[in-house]
Amino acid sequence: MPSPVDFNDRMLSLGLARVSEAAALASADHVGRGDEKAADQAAVNAMRRQLDMLDIAGTVVIGEGERDEAPMLYIGEKVGTGNGPEVDIALDPLEGTTLTAKDMPNALTVIAMGPRGSMLHAPDVYMDKLAIGPGYREGVLAMDMAPAERVRALAAARGCAEKDITVCILERPRHDDMIGEVRSTGAAIRLITDGDVAGIIHCAEAAKTGIDMYMGLGGAPEGVLAAAALKCMGGQMWGRLVFRNDDEVARARRAGIDDLDRIYGRDDMVRGDMIFAATGVTDGSILAGLQREPGWVTTETLLMRSKTGSVRRMVYRTPVK
Ligand code: FBP
Repeated sequence: MPSPVDFNDRMLSLGLARVSEAAALASADHVGRGDEKAADQAAVNAMRRQLDMLDIAGTVVIGEGERDEAPMLYIGEKVGTGNGPEVDIALDPLEGTTLTAKDMPNALTVIAMGPRGSMLHAPDVYMDKLAIGPGYREGVLAMDMAPAERVRALAAARGCAEKDITVCILERPRHDDMIGEVRSTGAAIRLITDGDVAGIIHCAEAAKTGIDMYMGLGGAPEGVLAAAALKCMGGQMWGRLVFRNDDEVARARRAGIDDLDRIYGRDDMVRGDMIFAATGVTDGSILAGLQREPGWVTTETLLMRSKTGSVRRMVYRTPVK
């Protein structure tokens, strides 16, 4: 019998779905309205309100930023009623603020929860990321392989030609060389303008999304969220923090990170059992976005638990408030 304070309690995971739903619903009025900040703020407020209704003694370890830069859902903030299990929380109330403001695909609200001490306290710096879905032998890829080598290794493991591999990469000038090298193998590239949590989740449902591998630099906090998702869905992921200046190094040290060059595997980023919830804001390959009709709005939420590997998709139709 699970104890009443077991964070993996089924009712608690359902509560987490309401948290990501609430953030998505709050952003509904901001989809396609060109105001990223307003969209983000609405999602933050709603996520915070809903989170405080959960019977948990929660600490935000991946949040909106450090305390002096984020008034709400900052790193270290205590959330929940305080009556319940001690948990760590990683969240991004709106992953893809620009995607939302421009009504482009794959904006999500995202939250993950695990026992206290189970998540890497990733500072707000870049992380060099590499991810694939389930079904490959452990260690089939490695962070220190060059991009073309990664494509070749994955194609060999899948028993297909390199041209049959699709890699997802954030479209940024910093990735120009990587893109060139991947293209030289004949592999296809799905370029995304934002939203690498969704980019990495795509690898776990390759048959549906057509994406076999994710690589490139994106936010380190988003890396931990993606690791939590892959822990539930299966798949491998590696990440290395990237520092551009002394301030970023100082952020890492404040977060308790001493080995600045460490390569983190998926389970180094999320060490315990995870619950993960994401709700679609704009339409994407893994989740439908918010659907509006007069007086009503409908959401789709992905709710997963790593302990069981269960993946639940929830469609929720509610009156517009
Ligand atoms: P926001 O939702 O905060 O705008 O982040 C979107 C995002 O694309 C992430 O998915 C990604 O990890 C990061 O920004 C990439 O950062 P940058 O825009 O600096 O390349």
